[in-house]
Amino acid sequence: MKATYEVDMLTGVRPTGNLHLGNYVGAIKPFIELQKTGVRSFVFVADLHALTDHEPKEIREFTREVVADYLALGLDPEKNIIYTQSSIGYETTFLMALLARETTVAELLRVPTIKDKLRRGARPETANALLLLYPVMMAADILLHRARRVPVGDDQVAHLEVMRRLARDFNEKYGEVFPIPEPEKLRSLRILSLKGAGKMSKSVPEGSIFLSDDPKKIEKKIKTAETATEGKMTPSLESHMILAKELAQNKNTLIEIDELINAHLAGKQVMGDFKKLLADLISDFLIRFQERRATVIKEPGYIEDILRSGATVARESAEKTLALVRRATSF
Ligand code: TRP
Repeated sequence: MKATYEVDMLTGVRPTGNLHLGNYVGAIKPFIELQKTGVRSFVFVADLHALTDHEPKEIREFTREVVADYLALGLDPEKNIIYTQSSIGYETTFLMALLARETTVAELLRVPTIKDKLRRGARPETANALLLLYPVMMAADILLHRARRVPVGDDQVAHLEVMRRLARDFNEKYGEVFPIPEPEKLRSLRILSLKGAGKMSKSVPEGSIFLSDDPKKIEKKIKTAETATEGKMTPSLESHMILAKELAQNKNTLIEIDELINAHLAGKQVMGDFKKLLADLISDFLIRFQERRATVIKEPGYIEDILRSGATVARESAEKTLALVRRATSF
């Protein structure tokens, strides 16, 4: 890999296990499909961020797991630079310190995601202080590579606003060091829970299909999923129709889905057939995914090699920016 690598796009992935189809279809698939348009990204595992709510010793394994998931879902290690945040931990935290002093505690307490977390569950008395620094470290992740485009979900938009504000103020104070990155809104689909209410989520496992589910479990979950009355389109049916279409591998399947939905809307009793088709599509997809994932995990040193060469490129890119930062700040 050449040292002159320019970052096209940059994104961070949380090392949390147990991805489900909502995560895949809603966020990961649109991102992975960008590869087809020639976009090359820096993709890093946010393992330092994960320290906010995980024990350090757990995170290493989570990191391997999430990299295996993304590779098996189609993230191409030839086209993207894949690394862990901690492999450039010095560079990240150095820049974070310089950015943190351009931020006030009050501003961070007003960030909606943090406010929200501190209102429920994580109380200021017990939450560790890394939570408060989350948006600042995220700004460091991005600015460290002078990235221009950052694809994120809706929940991250407020963080990117903090990052843009920091970049602008830093530039104003010390001179133009950072290009101001643009949030990249990816088409994001909300796949609803099989149990009707809300999105598919880890916290309602009966309503979610995990990437690790086997065909038997999938069949059972789909069988007991909420259905729509004949003739009616509901948000849940619509969302599961989209899920089916996203997983369909060919035109005939797409036609079959449309025919079933049209029959349903015409008042026919076809929900059983639709569920059967959906369960088959999911099983086919997940069996292939699980095979690829097993291969990736089994190959000794495969993931480690990818992360090591990614770290080399990322460090070079980070050092280049830090040289500009040092010169600008005289620090
Ligand atoms: N905060 C992101 C999330 O929760 C992960 C992340 C960390 C990230 N640093 C980033 C995303 C930088 C984009 C750019 O999903």
